[in-house]
Amino acid sequence: MGLVFSGKRSAKMTDLLQIGGITERMRERLSAAFDIHQLDDFNADSITHIVTNGHDGVPHNLMISLSNLKMISVYGVGYDAVDASAAAERGIVVTHTPDVLNKEVATTAVLLLLSCYRELLRDDNYVRSGRWEVEGNAPLTRSADNQKIGILGLGRIGQAIVDKLEPWAPEISYHTRNQKDVPYRYFDNLVEMAEHVDVLICITPGGPSTNRLVNAEVLRALGAGGTLINVSRGSVVDETALINALQNGELGWAGLDVFEDEPRVPKALREMSNVVLLPHAGSATIETRAAMGDLTVDNLLQHLKDGSVITAVPECRDL
Ligand code: NAP
Ligand code: 8YV
Repeated sequence: MGLVFSGKRSAKMTDLLQIGGITERMRERLSAAFDIHQLDDFNADSITHIVTNGHDGVPHNLMISLSNLKMISVYGVGYDAVDASAAAERGIVVTHTPDVLNKEVATTAVLLLLSCYRELLRDDNYVRSGRWEVEGNAPLTRSADNQKIGILGLGRIGQAIVDKLEPWAPEISYHTRNQKDVPYRYFDNLVEMAEHVDVLICITPGGPSTNRLVNAEVLRALGAGGTLINVSRGSVVDETALINALQNGELGWAGLDVFEDEPRVPKALREMSNVVLLPHAGSATIETRAAMGDLTVDNLLQHLKDGSVITAVPECRDL
């Protein structure tokens, strides 16, 4: 377990650099095998392992400065904040936490969708403010049943969202780079899919290939009766175009868990009543974070034991 014993004296443990927060359970398990260093207290030559999260990742210059780095374990499935190709070139294996969070993130997407359709924030406020007593029943909302729903990024979580939406009997379409063997309508053109659907749910990875994929043209195509749900990364949606479209009435509603410059959220979005906002809480339940934390640590411990890992990112699978 990384411990080298010499008589009764235990020698130095393996040096792990911690970037961002970890849970108490993760710390306990990691402390048994690693010396955990913080960013303000580490020796660059001795760090062999990093634990980080999807938001903080590993800054480029830091990765370059760690000459003995062997492994990076990301506490999250999205790893766009780590240059996995550069890591793979240096023989550094990057791991992440796929699958254990699929259902939770899917619940978050459905929560946002239903909150938009049934005007949860407006009607909660209608009761709390006393307007119900004074003005009578609130205006009617829209039914979420039988809607045309487009999934941008039909991967592990995208499929979990489709599965979770089944009781609302949607007509599902999707856009990805590669057509999948699934019984849903495929659009190779995102604007055309946006024109066709009532709701567009973004659940691709972040990074250069998806940067501002949802632009002004896509939002206009989604239209005044349309709803945008983003549980992917803030970078996938052009936030300025989104604000303009919502303000001009070119887009009807938005349910957003992720933003371009987290945790900063533009005032314009915070002020709009047709927008539901969450603080990047897609996977943030006690149960799911425990499962993600366990897998993050399991990857590190297994690597320490025999050099293998459980869930390498695609770029590092052949290492
Ligand atoms: P996944 O299984 O790898 O699925 C990604 C999907 O996106 C695939 O269907 C892929 O299909 C598609 N895609 C990738 N690049 C694309 C592009 N340029 N244009 C169109 N489609 C593209 O990943 P996952 O496990 O479902 O996770 C997806 C992402 O969700 C994560 O990377 C993360 O950013 C985000 N996430 C957010 C939260 C949150 O808290 N809000 C939590 C977990 C994950 P093709 O390769 O065929 O294009
Ligand atoms: C995490 C996520 O909140 O898994 C992801 O990609 O976005 C979330 O589950 C994030 O990675 C921070 O750890």
